[in-house]
Amino acid sequence: MQSIDQVQSALAEQNYVCGRALATVVFLSLKLGRPLFLEGEAGTGKTEIAKAMSAALGRDLIRLQCYEGLDAASAVYEWNFPAQMVAIRAAEAEGNADKDVLQRSLFSGDFLVERPLLRAMRPHEAGPPVLLIDEIDRTDEPFEAFLLEALSDFQVTIPELGTIKAAEPPIVILTSNRTREVHDALKRRCLYHWVEYPSFEREIEILQARAPEATETLSREIVAFVQRLRREDLFKRPGVAETIDWAKCLLALDAIDLSPQVIADTLGAILKYQDDIARIEGSEAKRILDEARAELSPA
Ligand SMILES: Nc1ncnc2c1ncn2[C@@H]1O[C@H](COP(=O)(O)OP(=O)(O)OP(=O)(O)O)[C@@H](O)[C@H]1O
Ligand SMILES: [Mg+2]
Repeated sequence: MQSIDQVQSALAEQNYVCGRALATVVFLSLKLGRPLFLEGEAGTGKTEIAKAMSAALGRDLIRLQCYEGLDAASAVYEWNFPAQMVAIRAAEAEGNADKDVLQRSLFSGDFLVERPLLRAMRPHEAGPPVLLIDEIDRTDEPFEAFLLEALSDFQVTIPELGTIKAAEPPIVILTSNRTREVHDALKRRCLYHWVEYPSFEREIEILQARAPEATETLSREIVAFVQRLRREDLFKRPGVAETIDWAKCLLALDAIDLSPQVIADTLGAILKYQDDIARIEGSEAKRILDEARAELSPA
């Protein structure tokens, strides 16, 4: 990808609609070999861009899904304990349980279970893989500190085997929903981009890419309604993922346009909290629909 335009068109081929600002940081992160840190609202295409990039570049995608309590061991490697036990039993049964030999063979590559970070350091036929470290805000600070080290020299150490260093660093994308602030030191290593909800036009483009069966009228109504809904005081505002889901639901119901009734019937596709649904159901839905329509065709 030699230019920002090329980034945009390569991602568009993967049905990923990428604004100029995002395309610019993607281009720079590839060019400078710096990790890309994407923060933003839920369902705005942070995870998806890693998939689109790996497909566009023809690289493997390796995903490290973060969760509370994730530790370095399960992110890098584990020893296959059951297989080691079997090997020990077999050696005992054959009567050749030479302690040193056995120990060396037990802690060799044969019994090593590679986890995402280690896999990302290994050579890949297609070239350095895309390493997606998803939802980093769910882990805790010790893990962040560990990641900081792993990402600064792209190497990991296994006490029994030694240090493994990536010949070519992977393309790293980190995402966060900002449920907590990620440490400055980690952010400083990365190029940062805040992923906003898309504009009306861009969301229409996304919908056309992801739910091309929807007519223009229906797509415009859906997007206008969702965009209007995002301005309401909600516990959880709908993301782009919800817009696409909703369009698919409406298509499955053969709806040709929105009505208060069809909105009430399908609200669960865009709102995922009962309090939000209760707020918007009924007359509120009609008001928002009217306002959305007014915005679509200013008199
Ligand atoms: N710019 C875009 N172009 C095409 N599709 C998009 C775009 N943004 C979002 N989507 C669609 O929305 C869905 C959800 O996106 P994704 O899972 O990447 O969101 P996210 O930001 O990672 O959300 P979360 O924070 O909840 O993990 C994707 O499967 C994709 O279909
Ligand atoms: Mg995600």
